[in-house]
Amino acid sequence: MRKIGILTSGGDAPGMNACIRAAVRISLSHKIEMIGIKWGFAGLIRGDMEPLDRRVVTNIIHQGGTILGTARCPEFQTEEGRALAIDILKRSGIEGLILIGGDGTFRGGTLLSKECDLSVIGVPGTIDNDVFGTDYTIGFDTAINTALNAIDHIRDTATAHDRLFFVEVMGRHTGFIAMESGIAGGVEELLIPEIPMSIEDLCLRLERNFRGGKKSAIVVVAETEQPGDSFRISKEIKDKAGFDSRDCILGHIQRGGSPTARDRVLASKLGAGAVRGLLEGKGGTMVGEIKGEIAYTLLKDTWEKKKRLHPDLENLAKIMSD
Ligand code: F6P
Repeated sequence: MRKIGILTSGGDAPGMNACIRAAVRISLSHKIEMIGIKWGFAGLIRGDMEPLDRRVVTNIIHQGGTILGTARCPEFQTEEGRALAIDILKRSGIEGLILIGGDGTFRGGTLLSKECDLSVIGVPGTIDNDVFGTDYTIGFDTAINTALNAIDHIRDTATAHDRLFFVEVMGRHTGFIAMESGIAGGVEELLIPEIPMSIEDLCLRLERNFRGGKKSAIVVVAETEQPGDSFRISKEIKDKAGFDSRDCILGHIQRGGSPTARDRVLASKLGAGAVRGLLEGKGGTMVGEIKGEIAYTLLKDTWEKKKRLHPDLENLAKIMSD
């Protein structure tokens, strides 16, 4: 293999730069040229790319975001869009392609690898941690620490005022961010898609908490299809049980910032693993880390199969919140 392309796609995640850096340096050590494709699949379709050398990736390991830029690209979901991309890839002599992103990126990658003979390998980069085939995704650790920091701040003011707070975190259709930041922040309740709870039950649980002597409480809410749903929930709680509360939506703050050490190390291992995977003929897979070991999972399994919350964490959350 003489030339590899690399792109970041979908929502950015802290650690993407560390991953690009590792992939570039491992490629160059094998005398393989690395081409950076800008703005994800959108840039690929336009042929927006440039060679990456060692210097381009100097001093980026600590930076959030992605030096390549990223985008969500509906055009790539069409056969015509992918045909344009395949044509560009062929003409540029790229033989292997590294896709850093989440489930949407890997859906596109699965189709791309079916439709051309190029080796495509995925690297899980999303704060949501909702990708099957890896224990953690790049960016998740930073995001939960950002959320935790916010929860700790809210705790101070909630205690000072004896108040109930709803803190909404990201995570799309999953409760990974809510679960881990909630456990770490010692929050009273978690509202996550994996463990549905009715408004009535939430009222009862909060009432029990307050009867038991608590004067303030934090409920972490995982965003749903419609970010901002925590406003509706807190209003319903107020209407039903009379609890006055405040809402705090953390939003895109969770996507930025300098990656944690854990994210930098994971990103470096997976960036290197992606290049090695391409050299070892593991195209059509995603490189992840399972129980501390590098593991390659079929790209289509990464989004077709559902990653579950760890049952130990679910049990812990229930017991600890009482
Ligand atoms: O997938 C990462 C994520 O941050 C989700 O948690 C969130 O639902 C979504 O992206 C927001 O996307 P956008 O930045 O396009 O609004």
